[in-house]
Amino acid sequence: MTAKDVYRGEQGEGGRASPEEPRGGGTKPHYGVGSVKNNKYAYLILGSMTAEIIDGKQISQQIMEELVPRVKELSESGIVPGLATVLVGDDPASKFYVKSKKRACEKLAINSFTHEKDAIITQNELISLVAELNADPRVHGILVQLPLPDHIDENSVIEAISPAKDVDGFTAINTGKLLAGRDCFAPATPLGILELLIRSGNRPEGKHAVIVGRSNIVGKPLAALLMQKNERGNATVTICHSRTLDIVKHTLSADILVAAIGRPNFITASMVKEGAVVIDVGINRVDDQEARRGYRLVGDVDFEAVSEKAGAITPVPGGVGPMTIAMLISNVVKAATILK
Ligand code: GUN
Repeated sequence: MTAKDVYRGEQGEGGRASPEEPRGGGTKPHYGVGSVKNNKYAYLILGSMTAEIIDGKQISQQIMEELVPRVKELSESGIVPGLATVLVGDDPASKFYVKSKKRACEKLAINSFTHEKDAIITQNELISLVAELNADPRVHGILVQLPLPDHIDENSVIEAISPAKDVDGFTAINTGKLLAGRDCFAPATPLGILELLIRSGNRPEGKHAVIVGRSNIVGKPLAALLMQKNERGNATVTICHSRTLDIVKHTLSADILVAAIGRPNFITASMVKEGAVVIDVGINRVDDQEARRGYRLVGDVDFEAVSEKAGAITPVPGGVGPMTIAMLISNVVKAATILK
């Protein structure tokens, strides 16, 4: 076994379990080698791995702590930030995510208003609910959890959200502003990935970032953020997808490799350049009869093998997942500040 760096944000060790990712399964690190470098790094022993672990749990906590004085200041001026979440149907994963977002609001003393609707709700009823939330002064951010049932056109519902309360950054207005490099609400997962890279000392500037996955929620907005002409961006970006020819040729040239395809262990060690920074966005359930719930969570990256080759890697759970929630809350605070 070898000791390895674990990037745990600015505050060293500690912290509670991630609010949004089920426990059970995944890699079981043995914390305990107590050396702390520059107050930024702690060490752990984890099999024979060599990659630095980018600890999303810790970094997300740091971001939440940074939001505390901003929420306090708003509250003192009579504004309690409020997030309205809309959940349609009873998809267990969606329910879980919405609950996690609500819990994160509670932690920061932010108002959360949860609207749970049967899957048979009509599109017009859903759009009417969004219109009510647009008009509600207690609500600064609106999140309609996706996916929606097949009989509802997601785009119509998304476009009903006021861009000023679109804390998911999914409306055409915010999408366009993001691409144009203007101030806007950017989607939480790509924002979280950028924070993970920057706060772990892996700035994208000048690097070749390869994103595997072209979704509207992750791949496309992340590409826009990474290629932005500013000190947080300035990367050269490639997006790969299901029709990409010779995907390995691209992934092997990545200084930063982001896996967002939703296929368990898709990225193998032979697809990764030595020393690359690997960000795993996947949260996939795989059957595991030994796990408490009968399944465990794995990412899109073959963590054990890739961590022997990568320079830094995010775990699943405990990597990108917690960051998504923190950045959503950050967007709610931003919305409340602007709407003030
Ligand atoms: N479904 C999966 N990810 C997301 C997200 O970030 N926001 C919403 N609204 N739905 C999702």
